[in-house]
Amino acid sequence: MAQAQSILLVTSDPEAVQPVRRSLALLQPVQTLCLTDPRDDAIRHMLAHGDGVSVIVSDVVPRGVDIVRGLRGLLDPFRLLKTPILCLVTRTSPRDEVQAWALGASAVLATGSTSGALVAAVRGMLQPGETHPGLQPPELERQLAVAVTDVGVAVADMLSSAKQGGRISTPAIAEASGSMLQGIGTVGISAWMRLVSEVDDQTYRHCMMVAGFVAAFAMSLGFSHGDCDRLTRAALMHDIGKAFIPLDILNKPGPLDATQAALMRSHACLGDDLLRAQGGHGEMTLDVVRHHHEHLDGSGYPDGLSGRGISDPVRIATICDIFAALIERRAYKSPMTDAEAFQIMRGMTGKLDMQLLTMFGRLFARPMPRSA
Ligand SMILES: [Fe+2]
Ligand SMILES: [Fe+2]
Repeated sequence: MAQAQSILLVTSDPEAVQPVRRSLALLQPVQTLCLTDPRDDAIRHMLAHGDGVSVIVSDVVPRGVDIVRGLRGLLDPFRLLKTPILCLVTRTSPRDEVQAWALGASAVLATGSTSGALVAAVRGMLQPGETHPGLQPPELERQLAVAVTDVGVAVADMLSSAKQGGRISTPAIAEASGSMLQGIGTVGISAWMRLVSEVDDQTYRHCMMVAGFVAAFAMSLGFSHGDCDRLTRAALMHDIGKAFIPLDILNKPGPLDATQAALMRSHACLGDDLLRAQGGHGEMTLDVVRHHHEHLDGSGYPDGLSGRGISDPVRIATICDIFAALIERRAYKSPMTDAEAFQIMRGMTGKLDMQLLTMFGRLFARPMPRSA
C-alpha cells in the first residue's frame, strides 16, 4: 500500500523555519528535522522508509565541514531514490548556491522568498495529485485543490507582509477572492470546506473558512458579483491583525489568561490601524476588520457598537466568523458539529442578527464535512 507522503523540511533552526513550514503545510503534511538534533522517532522512521518523502526542502546554510558532511549524509539516500531536493540559499552568497548544487539540489530558491514562490517551486516538484492527501480528485476537484492552495498562499503572504511591515498586496487578495467565488460557485461550499479543513495552520485555515462561508452566503443572498467580491476580500482579511499576536497565544492549547485575552482582542484594532495607515483598502474591508467582534446588544469589542451601528457586511462576517470558529478544530477544543454550532448561535439572541442566521442555516442543506 502506498505510504502517505510528507515534505521533509531540513533545518538548523526549527524556530526560524516556522514560516516556511506553515507555507509548505498548505501542500502536504510537513516533517521538520533539525540537522543537529536528528532524534525524532517519526523522522527516523521516515528516513528508514525513504518512499514516504515526496520532496525535501533544506534551509540549512551549507557552510562548515560538519554541516556539509551531515547534510550530505542525510541527502545522499534521497538522491539515489530521485527524491526532489529544494535548497533555500542566500542569494548574496554564490558559494552557498554552488554548494547546494554540489549536494544534489534539484532546484534552489532564495531564502526569504514569498510563500507564493516557495509553494509554486515545491508544487512543481510534486507528482500530479500529490497535494491534499486522501483525495483522488477528478479534474474539477484538482482545480479546486490548486485554488485552495493559492488562496492559502495569499493569506500566508498577507499575514507575513503585515508582520514585517510590508505592503499588503491587494491584487493577490483580489485574485484569491476571484478563485474562491469561481470555485465555490462551481463545486459548492462543501467541497471547498473539505479541502480547507486539511490546511494545517490554524490561522490560515480560519481565514479561508470564514471567507468561504462569506462567499457562499453572499452568493446565496443574491448579492451582485462586485458585492460578493468585496465581502469575500474583507473576510479574507478580517483577522489580519492576528499577524501581530504571538503564535504561542494564537495556538495556546488552553484558555487565555486576562492579559493574553486582552492582547488577542487587540487584533481588531491592530488590523484596522495597519490597513488605514497603508491606505487603498475599501470601507467595507476596514469596517469588517475592525468590527467583526461587535454584538448587536453592545457587548462586543473594540467599540461596543450596537444595533444599527453595526452594518450588514459586518453582521454577515460575524455570523460566518463565529460559525467557523465553532466547527474548527483548535489546539484547545474539538470541532463541533453544524447542529451544535447552530444551537449555540441560536442561543445568542440579542447579539446576532437572527434573521441572517436563519438564512445562513439554509446554506447547509447537506451535512458539512468536519475538520479532522
Ligand atoms: Fe477576529
Ligand atoms: Fe476570525
